[in-house]
Amino acid sequence: MGQKIDLNSIPNHVAIIMDGNGRWAQARNLPRSAGHKEGVEVIRKIALAANEIGVKALTLYAFSTENWKRSLAEVKYLMQLPELFFNKFLPELIEHDIKVRVIGFEEKVPPLTQSVIKQAEKRTMHCKGLQLNFAFNYGSRAEIVHAVQEIAKKVSVGTLQVESINEETIRTHLLTAPLMPFDDVDYLIRTSHEERLSNFLLWQNAYSEFYFSDVYWPDFTTEMFFDAIAAYQKRNRRFGGVSDKKEKE
Ligand code: FPP
Repeated sequence: MGQKIDLNSIPNHVAIIMDGNGRWAQARNLPRSAGHKEGVEVIRKIALAANEIGVKALTLYAFSTENWKRSLAEVKYLMQLPELFFNKFLPELIEHDIKVRVIGFEEKVPPLTQSVIKQAEKRTMHCKGLQLNFAFNYGSRAEIVHAVQEIAKKVSVGTLQVESINEETIRTHLLTAPLMPFDDVDYLIRTSHEERLSNFLLWQNAYSEFYFSDVYWPDFTTEMFFDAIAAYQKRNRRFGGVSDKKEKE
């Protein structure tokens, strides 16, 4: 583990936009799928590293609701990644007490992929370590629309009063509710030099710190992850208030 990390101030919830698989492959004259395949190995390494330092929840953006626009062949390959990942690494995740969860709109996901995901969730249900959360066929605006619909249904049948709707109501209707109390993201990491949120956890990132890495996801290492955590520990999070230091002045 990196010497530079203070184990007493680890971000509870780290979210990662694993970007650059396609470009990594293209730079090597390989098909895009080769980049995704390599990316799967990196997921294993980063999940183990996050677990080791005591991160509570790690959410990885694996497939967005916008990714259906890609070629049929690439979509098909991306849909097979959960199977590839869990077949290879599930025993190791269980060994490390890592609990798997998938958030997203599963109806559109092929039945085989759905059942692989369900199996992984079931087999790690008892785990007490890191919550490894995959956003798969996930889009944050769709998530918010879904939450609003659920809330409106409750209002229309009279089980919820309009006046009692508050931030907690929204929070508990989002797909990240099972991660509570760690549903808010503390630290958002994005690889491949792109600096945007791409419809990822819009509500949950309200007060998170951002970190952008220049390397493509398949080149992202445990050491780089620890560097990112060390950088987080130098940040001064104020949540709209003033820093402790200023308060004393
Ligand atoms: C972004 O690179 C990456 C993806 C869209 C897919 C990432 C998914 C995985 C690495 C594996 C998911 C695994 C499980 C278990 C669900 P890109 O293709 O957008 O790269 P580019 O921007 O260079 O084209």
